Amino acid sequence: MAETMKGLHRTHRCAEVTKTEIGSEVTLMGWVQKSRNKGGIVFVDLRDRSGMIQLIFEDGSIDHEGFEKAGKLRSEFVIAVVGTVEARSGAVNTNLATGEIEIRARQLRILSEAETPPFPIEEDSKTREEVRLKYRYLDLRRPDLQRNLMLRSKVATVTRSFFANEGFLEIETPTLCNSTPEGARDYLVPSRVHPGEFYALPQSPQILKQLLMCSGYDRYFQIARCYRDEDLRADRQPEFTQIDMELSFVDVDDVIDVNERFLAKLFKEVLDVDVQLPIQRMTWQEAMDRFGSDKPDLRFGMELHDVTDVVKDCEFAVFKGAIENGGSVRGINARGQGAMPRKKIDKLVSFAKDYGAKGLAYIAIHEDGSLKSSFSKFMTEEEMKALVETMEGEPGDLLLFAADKNKVVYSVLGALRLELAKQMELLNKDEFRFVWITEFPLLEWSEEENRFTAMHHPFTMLMEEDIDLLETDPGKVRAKAYDIVLNGNEIGGGSVRIHQDDIQERMFEALGFTKEEAHEKFGFLLNAFKYGVPPHAGLAYGLDRLVMLMAKRDSIRDVIAFPKVKDASDLMLEAPGPVAQKQLDELALIIDSKCSEQ
Ligand code: AMO
Ligand code: AMP
Repeated sequence: MAETMKGLHRTHRCAEVTKTEIGSEVTLMGWVQKSRNKGGIVFVDLRDRSGMIQLIFEDGSIDHEGFEKAGKLRSEFVIAVVGTVEARSGAVNTNLATGEIEIRARQLRILSEAETPPFPIEEDSKTREEVRLKYRYLDLRRPDLQRNLMLRSKVATVTRSFFANEGFLEIETPTLCNSTPEGARDYLVPSRVHPGEFYALPQSPQILKQLLMCSGYDRYFQIARCYRDEDLRADRQPEFTQIDMELSFVDVDDVIDVNERFLAKLFKEVLDVDVQLPIQRMTWQEAMDRFGSDKPDLRFGMELHDVTDVVKDCEFAVFKGAIENGGSVRGINARGQGAMPRKKIDKLVSFAKDYGAKGLAYIAIHEDGSLKSSFSKFMTEEEMKALVETMEGEPGDLLLFAADKNKVVYSVLGALRLELAKQMELLNKDEFRFVWITEFPLLEWSEEENRFTAMHHPFTMLMEEDIDLLETDPGKVRAKAYDIVLNGNEIGGGSVRIHQDDIQERMFEALGFTKEEAHEKFGFLLNAFKYGVPPHAGLAYGLDRLVMLMAKRDSIRDVIAFPKVKDASDLMLEAPGPVAQKQLDELALIIDSKCSEQ
């Protein structure tokens, strides 16, 4: 029967009790991890969010009634224990922080009994994630998830204290908004008071934080919830959290400077890791040319080589065709992989095809220096030799080539480079390798919309030296935009904003908006700019991604208390779900009959 806590006060968390307290009395509360009844003595592992400690109940040290009760304890019972700290009588458990001590119980209360949980509460559970998410409240008892969420809380605390000390004001912005300019699909909320009208949940506080700059708040930050209806991946959730900031009277270097100091402090305080400052910077073009990615993982090399010039006159139609179409031929050198079996190479080819490649050409360099290649019959010996040389090929290496439009070549080789690094175990889990990517293209061509779209958002400032290209060669204009990348993950991004009317107007024109359309979409921001606007810039981190990497996890679900699964549903809350007809009526909503057929 469940008892109360009357008269008891917890003195420690389980793992906070130390050897220095041997001989003193403590009161602990928590969950029974495991209990073993050895006749006259009962051993119990007691767990709370700090960790575990061993309790011993011995007839005589505790009254007989208490001893009987201890014999009935089962996993996940919630108990309170008063007892004395002692040195371990049995073998020391080196796996446990409290492995050298145990608590000899004098008093026991069962605060709550528990049914057998649907899966064991243990570190690194093998239970299927769908089951764990359905019972997330039990899953969250597991030590690894508890550590992740404690780490996340610490990240939030250090963030708040750092930015407050730097003169940033924490200001909340609403989540019932209208469309923001990040470019994903919106989540909509119907209005009861304005039937037929909708709020949009913010994809980010972008416009509102720019308005705060217009209002003179100077330096703003917020730990902000954002919503984007996009396809889910391991590093994406439909609702996620940003560490969002905006600063007035600054340029690129000022934003980078304060954020480098932030990252250094965060990693030092939370993980005791030293981040070397300044963090390396790389232009977008360099990142694409060397790594085939705008979020390069710099923990390993395997850089791309451009071999277009070497093969431009060869007879291999695949290479020739790509070059004639304005594309290129590039390769990567998988060192020491020259003996890769054909089957495994075929797998790499189909992997490359998933990323848009039409094929993947290869040269394996045997230990005796002879070559085996999928295309040597189209090449002269000199051409093959030059190719191997440009690729810095050595005996035992495997050279892989993609020929296509640049965009495809980058994407294929960028992905292949990562895949090979995984296979070759080149990724050091303990290394944190940061890089700033700068000078992004301002615009990218959308085949779908048949117009240029903003790569970041339409308020991103152009690099001054490129402004005049906006009308003549818009694809060439670089932006004052920057991303911060950690171990191949984009953990944050931002830009200097346009604060000049005339440039903003030219930007909208380049995007194919008329003045009226621009005003309809972002009128309040453009109006605000008429009344005195400071130059400003900002950045937002994906907090979930940052914590995921700090916790060395592969999925952001592991650092979010109640995450959603791939189809954007919450398996525990069973959200989304149907609502009562009355609610629909109040909102003037009619559900399409197609939905009920699904
Ligand atoms: P951006 O769209 O690049 O910029 O977002 C900033 C950071 O948020 C994270 N992020 C996500 N994390 C989890 N799930 C998602 N679906 C998701 N989408 C984005 C990424 C990303 O780097 N307003 C601008 C910032 C600015 O210009 O100041 C913005 O939102 O880590
Ligand atoms: P094929 O003559 O089509 O059999 O191609 C010869 C080799 O070139 C095969 O190994 C193909 O996988 C490879 N290949 C085909 N298209 C491409 C491409 N776009 N880029 C690189 N290699 C390719």
